[in-house]
Amino acid sequence: MIESTISIDKLIGVVRQGGRVKTGVDVYDSNGTLLLSKDVMVDKTKPLKIIRNNGLLKVPVASSGGVFDSSGNKINMGVADMPDPLSDPFFDPEPVKTQDVTKRLKEILELRRFAQSISVKAQAIIKNAVNQIRQTKGEFDVDALSDQASKLASFSEQNHHPFAYAPKEWFFYDDYLYSHAAHVCALGSQVLHRFNTAYSNAVEKSLWSSPALTGRKSSGMFSYYYPQEIDEMSFGLFIYDLGKSMVPEQLFNKRSTLSKEEVEILRRHTNDFGFMIIEKNHLGSTVLNNMIRYHHGPLYEAEPGCYPMGLGCDMMPPYVRICKLMDIYDAMTSKRSYQDAINQVTAVTGLFRSYVNKDPILQFILHAFVKTVGLYPPGSIVFLKSGQMAYVLENDGPLVLTFTDKNQVPLTSKPDPFNAGEQTGTLAIDSDKSIRQPKKIWNSLPSFIREIVLPEDQKMRHGLPIQ
Ligand SMILES: [Fe+2]
Ligand SMILES: [Fe+2]
Repeated sequence: MIESTISIDKLIGVVRQGGRVKTGVDVYDSNGTLLLSKDVMVDKTKPLKIIRNNGLLKVPVASSGGVFDSSGNKINMGVADMPDPLSDPFFDPEPVKTQDVTKRLKEILELRRFAQSISVKAQAIIKNAVNQIRQTKGEFDVDALSDQASKLASFSEQNHHPFAYAPKEWFFYDDYLYSHAAHVCALGSQVLHRFNTAYSNAVEKSLWSSPALTGRKSSGMFSYYYPQEIDEMSFGLFIYDLGKSMVPEQLFNKRSTLSKEEVEILRRHTNDFGFMIIEKNHLGSTVLNNMIRYHHGPLYEAEPGCYPMGLGCDMMPPYVRICKLMDIYDAMTSKRSYQDAINQVTAVTGLFRSYVNKDPILQFILHAFVKTVGLYPPGSIVFLKSGQMAYVLENDGPLVLTFTDKNQVPLTSKPDPFNAGEQTGTLAIDSDKSIRQPKKIWNSLPSFIREIVLPEDQKMRHGLPIQ
């Protein structure tokens, strides 16, 4: 896990004084070229200067690496570097709360169940709209969808990491188009809220720091987006891809690469089919127009591979950029006919690397995205460097509960949870191994987890008592 992002000049200073640096994560330049491998202990300034010459002013340092002084003691540089919240999107200031393990295990199960039921409903409603659009060449029940979008948005607002609680394997992969809409709406609304709060605060702060207002206190009232606008944006996050209903179905299930002509047809779901849907359903607001037509536009100036062609970054307001980012993230982490799902940590860090330090607004969006999605969703299972497996209780930290020994044999007694993010040795998380879902490793689960984390129907199947 990334512990902090440290200025390259500070690191050069440490090495000059006889210290050493190990990043613990691979460091790439903006073109994806590897500049420094994660396991190299740097004791000369040259590799760091090469990084700086490649335009990287800050580098991530993971908990598996560190900065050491000339006597080999670890220096906590992350803390000194924290005042700028945007410099380190992986830093989570919220303290770890969970102490009552059994209560927390039950809570996670409840949230998973609820997330699953709300997602199933949302998918049924989108499916209905897709069928309506296919039959009527564009019309659908706008009220039903807008109602469902507000339910999804308010659920995700009340619960930290909304759908991270519900393993994606519970959803229907054949119906990717429908589950995609539900995920993007739930996660995207939360990213939008976080973005709005952070961005509004930053604007407010800079307004009140103007010389004309010296000595006056900020009112704290400024809001970049207002609640009504956010409601409409959440609706947009649910329907932005509906133009796809008018693309021939066989294109979605094709395993081979699409031909140039097929790609062109698929791309018509935005500006062309999407626009038809806007017209037919009288959805003429600027917000919906921008989201439906531009959600494949550039996140930063001159980003390659975007469409419609010629669209500038200035035509991409923050809510459209959030929509695009969530669209990519959900596509990466969902299993579809032609690709396997990428694990969440790889997807988040990959997106972060591609888009970091490109544009100030995008930087705020990335920060909100990483905070919302979280690297380690509660209810998932991680491997520690020791080979032990641990159940994640809280994303913050993350706070984990070890449940096997290093040979992956279940423990018989319940250990105390601990903050794995603070560990540097064998108890640190092994980020090379992907996170798992409990039912995939059923045989390695000890009884104190089995009894609590599995839904009733699975307990019955495994002959466990139902509470
Ligand atoms: Fe799309
Ligand atoms: Fe999409």
